[in-house]
Amino acid sequence: MNILAIESSCDETSAAVVKNGTVILSNVIASSSAMHEKYGGIVPEVASREQLKCILPTIQEALLQAHCTYDSIDAIAVTIGPGLIGSLLIGVETAKTIAFVTGKPIIPVNHVLAHIYANFLNSQLSIINYQFPAIALVVSGGHTELFLMNNARELQWLGGTIDDAAGEAFDKTARLLGFGSRGGLAIQEVSRSEILLRRTGKKSCMKLPRPLIHDDTLNFSFSGLKTAIMREWQKNPKHDKQLVSTLAYEVQESITDVLVSKTIHAAQQYDAKSILIGGGVASNIRLREKFKSSTINFFCPPVALCTDNAACIGSYAFFRGTAVDWHTIEATPNLSVEITE
Ligand code: KG4
Ligand code: ZN
Repeated sequence: MNILAIESSCDETSAAVVKNGTVILSNVIASSSAMHEKYGGIVPEVASREQLKCILPTIQEALLQAHCTYDSIDAIAVTIGPGLIGSLLIGVETAKTIAFVTGKPIIPVNHVLAHIYANFLNSQLSIINYQFPAIALVVSGGHTELFLMNNARELQWLGGTIDDAAGEAFDKTARLLGFGSRGGLAIQEVSRSEILLRRTGKKSCMKLPRPLIHDDTLNFSFSGLKTAIMREWQKNPKHDKQLVSTLAYEVQESITDVLVSKTIHAAQQYDAKSILIGGGVASNIRLREKFKSSTINFFCPPVALCTDNAACIGSYAFFRGTAVDWHTIEATPNLSVEITE
């Protein structure tokens, strides 16, 4: 089954053709992220204008690269939320138009849940069948959510952030340290030297909090970290390279410690056989290292499939989607992730 998938929830416009939920025939991504840098954050109006310009060429390219025409497509999948309304509308209305004109079934997709399914792309079906129950952690710019998966179709929300998302904590710190708006990657890169120094015995001169790490719930909280970092920044008179790399290192350690500890706690609680992660923050090298050194089976998508992309939308639609009448599909910016089936 070939699914043409469309993702336009934020500043990436993406279209993909995915076969049987696991094989990527194409995955084209156009991003306007560089255009937002000078404003220090995503400007919704700019993002949606760029979506509008890119959507048709991106879909055309995805079909071309997959050597497909609409005749060889069995269904359309589209992100309906959560996300920015202006951006979502472009993908949703385009997908509805394609469904209307071609008569193909259309499958609405929650893009936060779809991040988990990036794990199933290009993977062997045996992994998909035998590693359940699993705990899935989605960590992106706007979400930090834990799910129980009893199989590739059944998802149950277990907990999430009560304030800022992990990606937001990375991004806000990055902005404070002068690295622009979507700075998780910058934090990772600048902490490398500090990681090496710590491994060769350098002692810590500050300790940031690990919010809710010992709390019984499976919730997260990252807003207090921001205040702690700000305090350290203001306390230090010299805002030099050393302080920047120390703070970057410490915030990454704090966020990754909490994410790993809570996810493993959930896995123990539900007797899970494996842990899957997804979303932009899942590309973080330190996070992956910490999960890999735990004893549980750990799966993460390749870095290119962690951030927003349409291939994972196509995979989700195959395993978990339901086709609906195109009239009923609406862009839903606040689409909930707190699902129970
Ligand atoms: O999933 P995504 O592409 O978009 C949303 O749905 O939000 O995630 C973007 C987030 C941003 O917060 C970005 O800073 C973060 O993922 N991110 C990273 C890394 N690469 C991207 N955070 C930490 N380490 C990285 N290497
Ligand atoms: Zn995302």
